[in-house]
Amino acid sequence: MASTIEVPDGVDLNGPLYVTNGAPVMNRTLVISDNLPALRAMPDDCVDLIYLDPPFNSGADYLNPIGLPEAEARGLQYDLKMPVPGANEPYQTGFRDHFHMNEFNKDGTPNDNWKPEWVREVGRVVPSLPSVIAMAGSAHSPSMQGYIAFMAIRLIEMRRVLKPNGSIYLHCDDTASHYLKSVMDAIFGARRFVNNIIWKRAIAHNDKRGLGRIADHVLLYANGDDFTWNMESPLARKSNAEIRATYPETDDVGWYRSADLTGAGARGEESVLPWKNYDVAARGRHWAPPLRDGTYADYIQEHFIPDYKDIAGVHARLDALDEAGLIHHPKEGGVWPGLKRYADADRGSTIQNIIVSPTGFTNYTARRGRGGEYVGYKTQKPLKLIEIFIKASSNPGDIVLDPFCGCATTPIAAENLKRRWIGMDRGVEAYRQVINRIRKTFPDMATEGESALVENRRFHRVDALPGQDNDAPVAIPMDEPEPPEPKLELTKAQRRELLGRQEGFCLGCGNKPDMELMEGDHIVPKIMSGPEDMVNFQLLCGFCNNRKRTKPMRDLWDKNEREGYLVFRLRMENLYNERETERLADPRMAALRDFWRPAPPNNAHRRP
Ligand SMILES: C[S@@+](CC[C@H](N)C(=O)[O-])C[C@H]1O[C@@H](n2cnc3c(N)ncnc32)[C@H](O)[C@@H]1O
Repeated sequence: MASTIEVPDGVDLNGPLYVTNGAPVMNRTLVISDNLPALRAMPDDCVDLIYLDPPFNSGADYLNPIGLPEAEARGLQYDLKMPVPGANEPYQTGFRDHFHMNEFNKDGTPNDNWKPEWVREVGRVVPSLPSVIAMAGSAHSPSMQGYIAFMAIRLIEMRRVLKPNGSIYLHCDDTASHYLKSVMDAIFGARRFVNNIIWKRAIAHNDKRGLGRIADHVLLYANGDDFTWNMESPLARKSNAEIRATYPETDDVGWYRSADLTGAGARGEESVLPWKNYDVAARGRHWAPPLRDGTYADYIQEHFIPDYKDIAGVHARLDALDEAGLIHHPKEGGVWPGLKRYADADRGSTIQNIIVSPTGFTNYTARRGRGGEYVGYKTQKPLKLIEIFIKASSNPGDIVLDPFCGCATTPIAAENLKRRWIGMDRGVEAYRQVINRIRKTFPDMATEGESALVENRRFHRVDALPGQDNDAPVAIPMDEPEPPEPKLELTKAQRRELLGRQEGFCLGCGNKPDMELMEGDHIVPKIMSGPEDMVNFQLLCGFCNNRKRTKPMRDLWDKNEREGYLVFRLRMENLYNERETERLADPRMAALRDFWRPAPPNNAHRRP
């Protein structure tokens, strides 16, 4: 396949993709690192197409190498540190598909998948993103909030490195697709949304409740109005059997079917007049030979009647078609002439936004079939699927980026289609899979040390791109840990009353979680003599309650606003202040007013 693809003059498949920080980044580069610092080291507008298949927030840990007999015998997912018996090398974590908003993972390792400063950073570039992230937290869970922040900070970089005519395919499943769509709308703009592609991942999945979940989602966004789109490339051509079934007649040109030459309704002047004794109006219809701008008119003009589209008049066009032998006249007993539509003109249908073939490698037949394509990477995607995307949205010689490239499906698909590529994955195990797969698929490509059989066709592994800083300082220092405030237990009636007064809002962030997710909070902490009384109670969502601890509300608002968690600050302040008269009337609270009164509303940055 690759040999027939022409790369435009001036594109050197063995040369650099671009030069940055004084150093070239070569075609066929795999970066083994977290993709955030790697993306940040890339220049603006340097890639034509991004396909990403990130963790889906499935809650699974993937251990690699997987897919070996020992691994399959025990199911494909493992505990993080569980060695696989019989394996001749230690098994390491593939990747954790776990997201949360704590500084450390359960096993005490630092949580690289979430940093509190990310929300503030994304808010600086796309102001609506912090509320999208907070919404994922209040509508779903803190885990989803952490995941969406992880994705948002990376997707912002992806947009930056994508050329204005580039496209991005974000592969996910329905765990997070709806939240990710909001993030993509916020970053790329809702009008840049092109498709939600449904890919049939598995043949069947017998879920205990509900319909079998076999669909993945791929969100396609363009980075500009004039994005690359190759209409012809993703056409699904008919098989020979389908052609024979659709085009049953034959003549000396080829297989054809007799298509209707008329349209509904007796309309028009000339088009309702009889032609060759066929009285079209008597049938309540009008003549409708192929339109000037239709694709079959193009075909007729190209192959049979050179000036077809210039012929004025419906009858003149019918005569020309007849003269060229393109009218199928009824056999004796038949009643009506038809237009010969040749199978040769059928270029297939464009691929629709539901892709059912190939499915993923979720069953035995798929894993053992397809020419040994499956390498045992649990989340491996089929080459043919990625090739559809690459063909549709890029041209030979273009640059394709996969920032979560796993076992290199996208690099291999790009190489097959003569696109240039750069992949990233932070799993060292992914690297092992990549190099093995590249060696197997392209035996002529130099990998490590050895010389390339095809001159300069060389794969490059790097641990960092030029200028990449993996240890960039954290923008906002972590807060000193504070003593937690003892939990405030409220009766149902108290909760209901407070919820009504607060109009259902968490006064800390302005979100509206379910009542059960709201926690009671002492406005003035007990340890600072705050009374055990409704006058000193309010409801906060769990996230805000954790953050407020023993500080005044204004500190919580400042912190939430700074980090992008606060929707409508002024509204929350007003709701909070509505009870000020009541609080001032209470002598215990009046004595503590300096603590609980918010700063006067003179901040220019506040939004109504
Ligand atoms: C769903 S898999 C991708 C599978 C790939 N499409 C294929 O066909 O092999 C997700 C990959 O993302 C990688 N990954 C997770 N977090 C990452 C990060 N922050 N930076 C780079 N790679 C990451 C994992 O190591 C894993 O290989």
